[in-house]
Amino acid sequence: MNNRLLAMVGSVMVVCLTVSASGQTAEGKKDGGAASPAGPSIKDAYKGIFLIGAAGDLPGGYSAEELDLVRQNFNVVTPENCMKPGPVHPSENTWRFERPDALVKWCADNQIAVHGHTLVWHAQTNNWFFRDGDKDVVTRRLKDHIGTLVGRYKGKIRGWDVVNEAINDGGNAETAKTENLRKSPWMRALGPEYIALAFRFAHEADPDAKLYYNDYNIEVGPKHESSMVLLRRLVKDGVPIHGVGIQGHWSTARVPYEAIDRAIGDYASLGLKVSITELDVTIRGTSGGQLGGGRPRGEVTPPSEQDLKAQADAYGRLFAIFLKHKDQIERVTFWGLSDRRSWRRGQHPLIFDASNHRKPAYAAIVEAIYHPKPEPAAPR
Ligand code: G3I
Repeated sequence: MNNRLLAMVGSVMVVCLTVSASGQTAEGKKDGGAASPAGPSIKDAYKGIFLIGAAGDLPGGYSAEELDLVRQNFNVVTPENCMKPGPVHPSENTWRFERPDALVKWCADNQIAVHGHTLVWHAQTNNWFFRDGDKDVVTRRLKDHIGTLVGRYKGKIRGWDVVNEAINDGGNAETAKTENLRKSPWMRALGPEYIALAFRFAHEADPDAKLYYNDYNIEVGPKHESSMVLLRRLVKDGVPIHGVGIQGHWSTARVPYEAIDRAIGDYASLGLKVSITELDVTIRGTSGGQLGGGRPRGEVTPPSEQDLKAQADAYGRLFAIFLKHKDQIERVTFWGLSDRRSWRRGQHPLIFDASNHRKPAYAAIVEAIYHPKPEPAAPR
């Protein structure tokens, strides 16, 4: 084991033995919270393996401590909302670049990469794109949207979620043989070719950007099979697509470890990179936002030590799988900075608690490098 690894293992062991969920050291002394990390940061631990990211529309509204947390722990940022069609391009002749510009500048000033999210989606997209327009008009609007946004950040944004969540939920043995595309406004206006068009427009606007298809639950079941049908067609047609984003909105009780392991290999077999683009692992309760169809049920009771341990185990097993596929995986991004900044707030899904302190999951992720569990556990 080389010296660097020895040094890291030593400090990891310190992390595992002394920093508890509450950010208190074993002696009960405050470790100063996450702003003064007690051990190797997750981004340093995974340096040279894959990028470690967080989502957020920073820096506006983020505290100095939170911005320190980003600087110390992450090397890529995904805008959570400010670059989506609705917020950034609310009407044909209105653009709102203030927050995207501030995010791109802050990240550049702090040597942090940016992954753009998202150019084409069925949600948070205002109706003007489709109103009173035939196929040619809607296609021009799509091209103008993508060309303007991607062009503005050419060379400053390393990659984009070009198309987000185009495949229907659920499915069965029949739909699994098809792309099973969602009947989104884009699909109704342009047909299935809207997907290839979006990738081609993005590639024209920035030939160096890494272009991703991004979706949830595509790692498992009929939706995975449909994603393979879609991606095979795009690759065969020479569409400029470079990677697949597995969003990774999971819950401690239901992480499909084996399916994730297989899915990453499937996508790699198409010559595509993989990123885990919106990782969160809830501890309990139903998910909010569009995945769960409702709003989070507000604050639930604080997680127990047992909950936190189960979550740490889940994150540790997930990162063991990601490490097994480290040659295919480009990036792992957490969907939010802390449990206070999560769309699934109240379900404690991330690796920093609501007070910005490292949770056991943080140490488990760093630990995964030195004690990988290559055989994923059977789903619980
Ligand atoms: O900015 C407005 C604010 O002005 C207004 O006062 C407030 C109350 O109406 O709403 C604010 O906008 C909200 C926005 O988040 C910013 O907070 C929207 O209502 C709310 O719908 C939006 O939710 C976002 C959701 O996507 C939209 O579907 C979540 O923050 C965001 O985490 C979530 O992220 C998605 C990914 O983009 C795609 N994958 C799934 C993931 C979770 O749904």
